[in-house]
Amino acid sequence: MPRKIIIDTDPGQDDAVAILLALASHELEVLGLTCVAGNVPLDLTVRNARIVCELAGRPDVPVFAGCDRPLSRDLVTAEYVHGKTGLDGITLPDPVMPVQDRHAVDFLIDTLRAEAPGSVTLVPIGPLTNIATAMKRAPDIIDRIAEIVLMGGGCFEGGNVTPAAEFNIYVDPQAADIVFRAGVRLTVMPLDVTHKALTTRPRIEAFRALPGRVGPAVASWTDFFERFDMEKYGSEGAPLHDPCTIAYLLQPDLFRGRHIHVAIETTSELTMGMTVADWWGVTRRAPNTFFVGDLDADAFYSLLTARLARL
Ligand code: BDR
Ligand code: CA
Repeated sequence: MPRKIIIDTDPGQDDAVAILLALASHELEVLGLTCVAGNVPLDLTVRNARIVCELAGRPDVPVFAGCDRPLSRDLVTAEYVHGKTGLDGITLPDPVMPVQDRHAVDFLIDTLRAEAPGSVTLVPIGPLTNIATAMKRAPDIIDRIAEIVLMGGGCFEGGNVTPAAEFNIYVDPQAADIVFRAGVRLTVMPLDVTHKALTTRPRIEAFRALPGRVGPAVASWTDFFERFDMEKYGSEGAPLHDPCTIAYLLQPDLFRGRHIHVAIETTSELTMGMTVADWWGVTRRAPNTFFVGDLDADAFYSLLTARLARL
């Protein structure tokens, strides 16, 4: 039986690769994509999610529009990384598949209530506004979630939007605070691990050489946002942040981390959205997170390339 997942997303080129990896993997059943404002405003993330489903030949995957702004702060976007459309790199056809009528938050609540308890995993790869809104509106769903595997935060790597904060958590720290306090089984892919999942020339060329439309599209996206990270970090390539979540569901043995306590900074403007990660256990607070710190990058890229070849 495939594992049922809902991907909560703000595509974003790396979100797009995560979605493609999930759709290419028979171990996973994608019940829906719930879109949120993040990398670009909501209308564009909804559009991009549909472009990606159509690219994968999966216009049957239901796509829902969710929250268009954080719980209490102004929306911050990241066109400087992802381009004006959020999916700059290659021009793909305008999507024709529909956007579902239901709000993403209603879909999350209805699905978690309808499916067997503990059978649906949530995979948030954008700001946590939709997930936190669902938890606030329907607290009964919290115990029904099998697990949350999200991309966000950082410990030793610091932040990527401010010195202290990573983008997904920074955009909606109040939402992240609700999710990290919820008591759900939580696995987190912070910058500490995603900054080790770097594209390199040979890895990008392996995507480009795949038959069909998907590999070249992925190569064009990674080419596009690579420039930004290479300039910023002087690194070999760009981190494919969001696909780490899906790869973890497929092959958890590729990743290493620690069970620790993580709290979210919601007060200080200086460190707003910081994931205060007790890596050394100095607070003696009970762990609420499996915080990942390392991966086998070669095996990750082999898995990703082999799966994308199936689309
Ligand atoms: C995260 O922020 C977004 O720009 C990416 O899609 C990823 O989810 C990395 O900080
Ligand atoms: Ca994202």
